[in-house]
Amino acid sequence: MREVVVAANWKMHTTPADAGDLARTTAARTREPGVTRVICPPYPCLAAVGAALATADPDVAVGAQNVHDELAGAYTGEISAPMLAGLATWVIVGHSERRRDAGETDELIGRKLGRAVEAGLRPILCVGEQLDEREAGLATDVVERQLHGALAGRDPAETNAAGLVIAYEPVWAIGTGRNATGADAAAMSDAIRSSLDALGWGDFAAGMPVLYGGSVTSTNIDTFLAEPSIDGALVGGASLKPDEMAGIVARAGMTARARGLAG
Ligand code: PGA
Repeated sequence: MREVVVAANWKMHTTPADAGDLARTTAARTREPGVTRVICPPYPCLAAVGAALATADPDVAVGAQNVHDELAGAYTGEISAPMLAGLATWVIVGHSERRRDAGETDELIGRKLGRAVEAGLRPILCVGEQLDEREAGLATDVVERQLHGALAGRDPAETNAAGLVIAYEPVWAIGTGRNATGADAAAMSDAIRSSLDALGWGDFAAGMPVLYGGSVTSTNIDTFLAEPSIDGALVGGASLKPDEMAGIVARAGMTARARGLAG
């Protein structure tokens, strides 16, 4: 049975002064057996969130929102995978806001993913199409190309053992209040596993957790988790509201129980 994951992407919100409190409150409101919870604060808040969770609820993992593709060097302002050791155990790679704002390519994202794996960080690889691509009927082609660009040439067994999770985030749904339908997201989850299979991932493809992301709330989470092919959510805006996270993780807990993961 595939793992059920709810990951919070705080984006460029919170400061070291208030992040610990938000992490503690979120952790306390989201205790659901069988659900893997991850909080991804901005880099400067990783230590505060880690310290808060170490005492409040060590079951909640800490993730970074990005990582550099080199280990060290003259890259002013950047953060490498070894620097995250001890501060994070997960990392988001390929978020559409970085593809858009930092011009990240699939190849670069693949190298970042490789650095995450080497450093023992669990990668969340984000993929998703733009609105015009969906309207042109190209959504699946785009996502396949992104997966291929980031994963071709990587060792499936090693990457799978690192705990890779894929997040399908249609770009037009991120931060817009306009979410995909459960059926469309489920169809894309199936297409993602088929692409992995085509890349030679075999059994690992069938076992790959695929999350949905894009305007997820406590109100619409059921639309996604009612679909057996969807294994959780990557939550942006709503992840800053503990009430919202409580509702989202409670619904994920139902899925975890139905899958026999709740112990
Ligand atoms: P959103 O963001 O939930 O605010 O749409 C999701 C994401 O960017 O991961």
